[in-house]
Amino acid sequence: MGRRKVLNDKFLNKLYVKDCVQFMKELPAESIDIIVTSPPYNIGKDYSVYKDDKTRLEYLTWMEQVAIESKRVLKKDGSFFLNVGGKPSDLAIPYDVENRFRKHYILQNDIIWVKSIAITKDDVGKSNGLKNDVMVGHYKPIQSRRFLNNCHENIFHFTKSGETELDKLSVGVPYQDKTNIERWGIKKDVRDRGDIWFIPYETIQESRPHPATFPEKLPYMCIKLHGVRKDLVVYDPFIGIGTTALACTELGVKYIGTDIDESYVRIAEERIRSQKHQMKLQPLETAIEIEG
Ligand SMILES: C[S@@+](CC[C@H](N)C(=O)[O-])C[C@H]1O[C@@H](n2cnc3c(N)ncnc32)[C@H](O)[C@@H]1O
Repeated sequence: MGRRKVLNDKFLNKLYVKDCVQFMKELPAESIDIIVTSPPYNIGKDYSVYKDDKTRLEYLTWMEQVAIESKRVLKKDGSFFLNVGGKPSDLAIPYDVENRFRKHYILQNDIIWVKSIAITKDDVGKSNGLKNDVMVGHYKPIQSRRFLNNCHENIFHFTKSGETELDKLSVGVPYQDKTNIERWGIKKDVRDRGDIWFIPYETIQESRPHPATFPEKLPYMCIKLHGVRKDLVVYDPFIGIGTTALACTELGVKYIGTDIDESYVRIAEERIRSQKHQMKLQPLETAIEIEG
């Protein structure tokens, strides 16, 4: 492993049109606090440049390269949040990727991202006061006599040692039984949320500029869980249309992003600009750098 160096400011708050593995080779060792990302799942998504149809072996070998290079650039106490899903006819994809990553990292948490859930009032119990059944969120319905609708994905939380301390209460939820607060001498009505996160897609847009984005709340919660500090540097190797950068701007932390698709990066830049405009912030230095 190379010597730890401070990341030069020139890298920060920028998106690069570059292959992420090549890009990480250029970053100093142990310079990134958090990596949060969602790679292609190899399920034939219709990206504009990337071809999402590698053989399984090619795909997993590539994912392992991402694991190896990311481990070099991640700080000792850093967090890598890897969101991966499968498809009903191939549910093992996330676990195969997880397996390759676990050759290099410790799986510290396995968060289940629930996109849609049905809770019937009978299952919740009377004391809760729930009057109706709850059916929330969006999923892609499938016509099949074999497979259930796929309503969740994984967010694997990898660390180098399994010892990274987290700010669990920053994404906590209120106690349901308030008597616990007094009984345990708890100062604030907030407890560990656990590893099942319901995060709905914001809206289903008619013409989507990218076929596979995650909701902004996903990277937002991952960054908060790791613990927000002013000097935090977050990297998304597969930034797409910039959702992770939006979460970073919202949290006031620094970001770096890469994607091989220039058209997505341009949309990302526009989204960041318009978010800053809405937040009435002074725009930070942003630039697109194109390889070659
Ligand atoms: C699942 S999408 C990520 C979407 C992103 N989370 C968002 O919300 O916009 C995966 C992205 O990886 C990009 N990609 C594919 N191969 C890449 C590579 N070698 N280096 C960097 N990006 C790559 C694709 O262009 C695609 O935008």
